[in-house]
Amino acid sequence: MDMSVKIGALKLKNPVTVASGTAGYGEELSEYMDISKIGAIFTKGLSLKPRPGNTGNRIVETSSGVLNSIGLENVGIEEFLKNKLPFLLKSGATPIPNIAGHTEEENIELARILSGTEGIDAVELNVSCPNVKEGGMAFGTNMPVFTRLVEKVRDVTGGVLIVKLSPNVTDITEFAVTAEKIGVDAVSAVNTFLGMKIDIKNRRPYFKNRVAGLSGPAIKPLAVRVVYQLFERITIPIIGLGGIASVDDIIEFILAGASAVSIGTMNMVEPAISLNLASELEEYCRAGSIGDLAALTGAAHTA
Ligand SMILES: Cc1cc2nc3c(=O)[nH]c(=O)nc-3n(C[C@H](O)[C@H](O)[C@H](O)COP(=O)(O)O)c2cc1C
Repeated sequence: MDMSVKIGALKLKNPVTVASGTAGYGEELSEYMDISKIGAIFTKGLSLKPRPGNTGNRIVETSSGVLNSIGLENVGIEEFLKNKLPFLLKSGATPIPNIAGHTEEENIELARILSGTEGIDAVELNVSCPNVKEGGMAFGTNMPVFTRLVEKVRDVTGGVLIVKLSPNVTDITEFAVTAEKIGVDAVSAVNTFLGMKIDIKNRRPYFKNRVAGLSGPAIKPLAVRVVYQLFERITIPIIGLGGIASVDDIIEFILAGASAVSIGTMNMVEPAISLNLASELEEYCRAGSIGDLAALTGAAHTA
């Protein structure tokens, strides 16, 4: 059965992908499943130079989710291109690097380098990381800053450009509409929601950064709401994510308006979940004689 979906000019084998930051660069995942069989792997947010990430506590479980404050720890673009990307390509996976520069210039440079690299057909611009002091969410929550950055990254990106939106704004649809106008090919929604934990023993915030990003099943209804709202305002594809843990969750996102989905936090619970859910989704389509998954995208809007 053909489960492929199109994200701009990029054809994914199926709509189930792995979310950035929850599976590194795919190597560890490949010990649990055939990574060539999922739609794509969004790799950990990259910067020009390697980054150690935040100090202190970095992740903690919450009710039905996790709060993280990793702070974009990554190997840097050079090491990624030299040692991480070749592994992904050799494995037959579809890599989508996630760009997470500190500054506008750094993001443009990363986009320029990646878009000229063989084997990379798409990049995801992360303007929504809540865990860094410079850049991150500051790009995705201020409209003039967002517009300028996305325009400049679009200018240097020949391939498919996906922008990962921040849900920590009053109206996320305004950012999506702007992205579409600039010529972005797709949006990912959502990144983590701002949250916080207080350590009751020492009566201080648990994370050094104070705030952190909430993900996992706890945020699923919020993310479905966002995807539904976006579908009403934009025509470019939406990659839906936030708390997906079952095939029913995937179908919910698709009916709300997603053309593809990503699995994030649940990879940490069940490393092969993305492939398992891709198979279950295919089974669902076969059982329901659904020949074209695209027909389901946004179907909840016509009811
Ligand atoms: C530990 C961790 C690290 C993450 N790192 C990144 C990142 O580098 N870039 C990014 O765009 N999103 C990052 N995210 C956000 C996820 O890609 C995803 O948007 C979010 O977790 C919601 O999906 P989920 O509820 O399925 O996890 C990270 C999330 C977690 C939990």
